[in-house]
Amino acid sequence: MAFGHRYTGLIDRYRDRLPVHDDTRIISLGEGNTPLIRLNNIPRELSRDVELYVKFEGLNPTGSFKDRGMTMAVTKAVEEGSKAIICASTGNTSAAAAAYAARAGITAFVVIPDGKIAMGKLAQAMMHGSVVIQIEGNFDDGMRLVKEVASAAPVTLVNSVNPFRLQGQKTAAFEIVEELGRAPDFHCLPVGNAGNITAHWIGYSELAAHSGDHVTAACTFCSGHCRYAGGGVAGQRPKMLGYQASGSAPFMRGAMVDNPDTVATAIRIGHPQSWDVAWKVREESGGWFDECTDDEILAAQKLLTEKEGIFCEPASAASVAGALRDIRAGKIPDGSSVVCTLTGHGLKDPDTAIAQASRTPIKVPAEIDAVTRAIHENMD
Ligand code: F0G
Repeated sequence: MAFGHRYTGLIDRYRDRLPVHDDTRIISLGEGNTPLIRLNNIPRELSRDVELYVKFEGLNPTGSFKDRGMTMAVTKAVEEGSKAIICASTGNTSAAAAAYAARAGITAFVVIPDGKIAMGKLAQAMMHGSVVIQIEGNFDDGMRLVKEVASAAPVTLVNSVNPFRLQGQKTAAFEIVEELGRAPDFHCLPVGNAGNITAHWIGYSELAAHSGDHVTAACTFCSGHCRYAGGGVAGQRPKMLGYQASGSAPFMRGAMVDNPDTVATAIRIGHPQSWDVAWKVREESGGWFDECTDDEILAAQKLLTEKEGIFCEPASAASVAGALRDIRAGKIPDGSSVVCTLTGHGLKDPDTAIAQASRTPIKVPAEIDAVTRAIHENMD
């Protein structure tokens, strides 16, 4: 990179493929441009020949992929003269909405399920000065309420039903294709509302459409916002694999789930907002949905932290838990390239992390003998 080049966020980076004008005031915190990390140690232990990558979206400014969508949604809200935004959230959307509203100088109202959001996310929403409304209900209740409020009050809804959200989030697919030089064979994501899996499919489809393959999908999904004009490199599109937590797996049940539950609170969603479109993504991509138990999710989170040095939140680990199972079973065949999206940072949910860490801190007197003994006793 040349000296003096400053990365200024994904809207500036992909301006030609996003619904903005030359004079649009961009609300950005430098989101996007996240690392695609090739896993070394986990695949070695699998003794399978797959190229396994994680796209670490936890390294976005507020610690989750939501920033990609929020920069677009808030930019457009401000362009349209909105003075307030609202969302329902399992935590990450509220953190992103609060931060981008602060950046834009507008108000964020966030509706969250009482007691079921990770501490880091609550801290973010509170610190950024949003109005936090805790409801005695779950995310799905919150979603119903904010849709009703937004239809009557002068506030812009910034959940992923806002089409600008998915436009921002599709850029993760652009980054992956740019880095790999092609689309991966499989792309694995945790699924809640199924907005993100849809957004990635839009991104891959736009690239494939431009590279000359016969693809009609892009415009089915992009709500008329796709303005891709760059050089296509993708050609093929990945099979999209969506993993849900067993206690919150409407796509596995084939029906909405009324009382979803999982340790992965980010995806504790029983009534996905992108239901129809997500089925279309599965069908068009030739992929599949599957479910992971809470134990499998936590085991994958731990594996990533202990074997690869990557700390993601539980919901994110569902993508890796599912991918590893499908690699072992041969459903993802040898020779494949696989990308798993790690949607949020592990620091978001310290309580769950501490509760399941392999080692607890060793408490000793502040004396050299005691510290030396603790080291000797724990030398691997
Ligand atoms: N992973 C994390 C960390 C999330 O926060 C979410 C959704 C998902 C995965 C699922 O993405 O809904 O597009 O399928 N979180 C939303 C929120 C619901 O309110 O923060 P999806």
